[in-house]
Amino acid sequence: MLAVAHQRAGRNGARNARFEQADVQTRTFPAAGFDVALSSFGVMFFDDPPAAFANIAAALRPGGRVAFLCWQEAARNEFLAVPLAAVAEHAALPEMPSTGEPGPFSLADPQRIRSLLANAGLADISINGLQGPMRMGADVQDVIGYYQGLPIAWQILAGAGEQATAAALEALRDALRPHQGDEGVTLGSAAWLVTAQC
Ligand SMILES: C[S@@+](CC[C@H](N)C(=O)[O-])C[C@H]1O[C@@H](n2cnc3c(N)ncnc32)[C@H](O)[C@@H]1O
Repeated sequence: MLAVAHQRAGRNGARNARFEQADVQTRTFPAAGFDVALSSFGVMFFDDPPAAFANIAAALRPGGRVAFLCWQEAARNEFLAVPLAAVAEHAALPEMPSTGEPGPFSLADPQRIRSLLANAGLADISINGLQGPMRMGADVQDVIGYYQGLPIAWQILAGAGEQATAAALEALRDALRPHQGDEGVTLGSAAWLVTAQC
């Protein structure tokens, strides 16, 4: 991914862009060295969110900005709720991480976001709900292929026998069909757009 990003930046003439793989919880950044910190659906996976947000805040200049997207609760996100409801009739679902544990929905609670950011020394915290269609793939089979590649699917299907797996996939197909349109298969999603300032 870093190599692709590098190539694309080169193609677009962005000579001042640098790409690096690092853990934002522990990477030492130049103090007050940045104007903006952005993340698209990444910050929910921190094992230690207080350390991560404190590190990010320390890297921003006074007045520097933070903006990120994270998911609202799973039940409000059809792209997860629809397939889980379909397969639940045929296979046991794994235990979902409890609120606050690292995972896609760990920042679903706006109160938690607010307290983490405030404790990191960030101010002017604003949390806006965004809802929109998410294109999951070209057709039902394409989307099933995508779901089958996710770790949660391996967990679910690992414990299910051959018959239950076939029935779960059939149920998934049936559940996805009504969401097929001219543009592909689209399911609803709900995210928070969070902004704050140093
Ligand atoms: C679901 S992906 C989102 C990818 C991309 N931003 C997008 O919107 O499609 C989550 C990203 O968060 C990054 N991430 C999770 N924890 C991180 C950490 N502690 N430090 C840096 N990046 C982290 C992962 O490496 C991964 O790229």
